Amino acid sequence: MKVPLMQHFQTAASVLTHRLPTSEDLKILLMEVKMKVLGISFGRVNQRSDIMVKEALFAAKRAGADVEFYNAVRMNITHCHACDYCSRCRDKGDVEIGCAFKDDYQTLEEAYYNCDAIVIGAPVYAVGIVGQFKNFLDRICPSHDRAALLEENKKRAAEGKPLLDERYFKDRYSAYISVGGAQTHNWVAFGLPMLHLFDFSFAMKCVGHVDAYDQGRTGSPLLDDALMKKCADLGTALAQAVGKPYDEVTTWAGDDNGVCPVCHNPLLSFNGTTDVECPVCGIHGKLSVDGEKAMVTWPDSEIARARNTIPGLYEHCNEIHNMIVVCVPKLVANKELIQEKMKKYTNFDETIRQIAAETAAQNKEA
Ligand SMILES: Cc1cc2nc3c(=O)[nH]c(=O)nc-3n(C[C@H](O)[C@H](O)[C@H](O)COP(=O)(O)O)c2cc1C
Repeated sequence: MKVPLMQHFQTAASVLTHRLPTSEDLKILLMEVKMKVLGISFGRVNQRSDIMVKEALFAAKRAGADVEFYNAVRMNITHCHACDYCSRCRDKGDVEIGCAFKDDYQTLEEAYYNCDAIVIGAPVYAVGIVGQFKNFLDRICPSHDRAALLEENKKRAAEGKPLLDERYFKDRYSAYISVGGAQTHNWVAFGLPMLHLFDFSFAMKCVGHVDAYDQGRTGSPLLDDALMKKCADLGTALAQAVGKPYDEVTTWAGDDNGVCPVCHNPLLSFNGTTDVECPVCGIHGKLSVDGEKAMVTWPDSEIARARNTIPGLYEHCNEIHNMIVVCVPKLVANKELIQEKMKKYTNFDETIRQIAAETAAQNKEA
């Protein structure tokens, strides 16, 4: 079993204050508190995503981290079926929140819980990130929403019940590499933004990303030293961030051509006013235009409520709670009405036959 990090620090403190540490003490302490950077590639084996994630891991290792690598391309990770099994795990007081489907998801899930930082590299398919990554995200993230789990733990503590797995509450750092073949950037437009969606539920802090598009002309990332350096910088940044509180880490590595100060992506939602929103982080900014130049000012209060922050997660948690309060009484009060109205949808084929017969009769009359 893994001993919590804090316990190691306490052990270290007591060794250092009560007696001089022996070299053996120090060796054990250093070995035990060693940080783990996990790398996952959702690309083909030994192709571009693999190479770039591994480059980041080499740098992380050089910076003192333990590293672990997974290629997921042949893994069987089915999509979330919304069966609610994970919510029931939480509601019945389980320590672990699992997924009902047993496939390769559990391998990546466990690797994630045991890491301190993660670098994910994935190919862009059809302008967005490969679906297997989204399957993994859908199964691990929403069920581990940190605000919801903090509330659950408060309830359990008050009732003297076993708390949830402490690994769900660990601060972790992330870095992302989006890999695309196209020369035109708009063909990878949703690559990095989709990768960043992994940050939210666990309230991870991202230290950098690399937008590795134009691979069709680059051929291999191994022929692009600048690109490989950016990937290595991600690994170094991750290893250097681990163990530090989020507010002490201001590093941004890799590419920085974005507009949002949190996710550094170049996307904006526009509603016809100067109030714009980062669709990835859900924060609002003020757009101003000066001739051909446009800029967005992002208030600190907005940055503090980005989707990957605890306040941001609580906003959504409360939103869901308030939805339930409205929705459940409405469904209960209208149960028979909904059942009656549902008949034509559940009997779809019959409804279609009726519509066809009605239309044919109308056409005959006309
Ligand atoms: C089904 C499919 C769709 C793709 N769609 C895009 C795309 O929309 N934009 C793009 O830049 N590259 C696209 N590509 C190219 C891949 O992103 C590119 O080959 C990448 O290097 C694959 O990552 P890997 O080398 O790590 O396997 C597509 C590839 C496949 C197989």
